[in-house]
Amino acid sequence: MSSTRTLIRGGLVITAADEIHADVLIEEGRIVALAAHGSDVAEGWTAGRTIDATGKYVIPGGVDAHTHMEMPFGGTFAADTFETGTRAAAWGGTTTIVDFAIQSPGQALRTGLDAWYAKADGNCAIDYAFHMIMADVNESSLKEMDLLVQEGVTSFKLFMAYPGVFYSDDGQILRAMQRAAHNGGLIMMHAENGIAIDVLVEQALAAGHTDPRYHGEVRKVLLEAEATHRAIQLARVAEAPLYVVHVSAEEAVAELATARDKGLPVFGETCPQYLFLSTDNLAEPDFEGSKYVCSTPLRPKEHQEALWRGLRTNDLQVVSTDHCPFCFAGQKEMGRGDFSKIPNGLPGVENRMDLLHQAVVEGKLTRRRWIEIACASPARMFGLYPRKGTIAPGADADVVIYDPHTEQTVSAETHHMDVDYSAYEGKRITGQVETVLSRGELVIDKRQFTGRAGHGQYTPRSLCQYLT
Ligand code: URP
Ligand code: ZN
Ligand code: ZN
Ligand code: ZN
Repeated sequence: MSSTRTLIRGGLVITAADEIHADVLIEEGRIVALAAHGSDVAEGWTAGRTIDATGKYVIPGGVDAHTHMEMPFGGTFAADTFETGTRAAAWGGTTTIVDFAIQSPGQALRTGLDAWYAKADGNCAIDYAFHMIMADVNESSLKEMDLLVQEGVTSFKLFMAYPGVFYSDDGQILRAMQRAAHNGGLIMMHAENGIAIDVLVEQALAAGHTDPRYHGEVRKVLLEAEATHRAIQLARVAEAPLYVVHVSAEEAVAELATARDKGLPVFGETCPQYLFLSTDNLAEPDFEGSKYVCSTPLRPKEHQEALWRGLRTNDLQVVSTDHCPFCFAGQKEMGRGDFSKIPNGLPGVENRMDLLHQAVVEGKLTRRRWIEIACASPARMFGLYPRKGTIAPGADADVVIYDPHTEQTVSAETHHMDVDYSAYEGKRITGQVETVLSRGELVIDKRQFTGRAGHGQYTPRSLCQYLT
């Protein structure tokens, strides 16, 4: 039996709760035991494979609860497929993604979800699950929500932005929230006032303001804060929990904090791009700013401190990437001369664990909070805990050996995402993923990819675990 076991010896095991020098025993894809390094129990263990983690961190695989592999947008598709995107995720120490299946207007949720099952099936290097984007809230899609919750798709993204594409009006939002209150689902909100934004887009273009930086100017902070406020009030009326995605503005964090101070079940996510990038990037010349076009947009630097504070105070609970890469050549370029035609989204699934570790190095986060916001909390939020997001007996053996000392420079030359630029080009990071296990199998072995497309399994989810 011991030949089928893996033993990770001598590392510092970090979870959201603890930091302990412990050996970790893995069998049949699961963690079966931890014991203090050097203890009689640990010394007595034998295994077919032993990984020496001396001087390294042993952390749970990252859980990225917001990705868009192969997402259709404005006539093109996000550049990473499930194959390339999950491989890049593994390189970056992420072992689970929750991607967004999309309902097109006029379509059943079932049709959209089945299409996403088919896209991912047999192609993923790491485990995956789905949220459902609802682009058409009506009597029949509301009923379908109950069935999806039962099959493990327990969260639904709605859009207050993108009129004519994904947009739901307040009545539709209220109905979907009422349904979620009834079936236990979690509503995820893209909180920007898209109706008002579209007026400003039209006016900006008419005034000849076509550069990427106007994308940031028309998508105003006030219109994120207003939509966040409105989403919270609608959730209160519906007596439903709410999770606001890709929060970027200080004023939106304040709305969440106010709601949470009232004891409301309101949660928030931010993304590395809002923590590390700003409108300065959107203003880069020669159309380079297009590389940073996403929604919600990047904000002036002054907003970053509120996001970091929110992460420390738990007014924000999760950092996900919103990985939605479009190449500069041929894709971002679709918006030359009209910023509103630039496909929205940034690459980042490979960078998240490292960027957040850099925040640990810089004293912005503790090590345990790093693991909490990147692993444990997204797993709890979306019903994957404790299978995912922690290192404990019974958990899936999704484990990263992280070298906290190696220095690296982020670059498109060396990344594994299938996109022709890095949003963090040239950024120096202290720390690097060394080895990654997914359900006990080596996916990255001392910085060699040893995984395979099809190893990753679909993982149905239970309800949000912050509510029960
Ligand atoms: O710009 C972004 N965030 N693109 C992905 C779609 C979304 O709204 O999350
Ligand atoms: Zn969104
Ligand atoms: Zn308010
Ligand atoms: Zn997104």
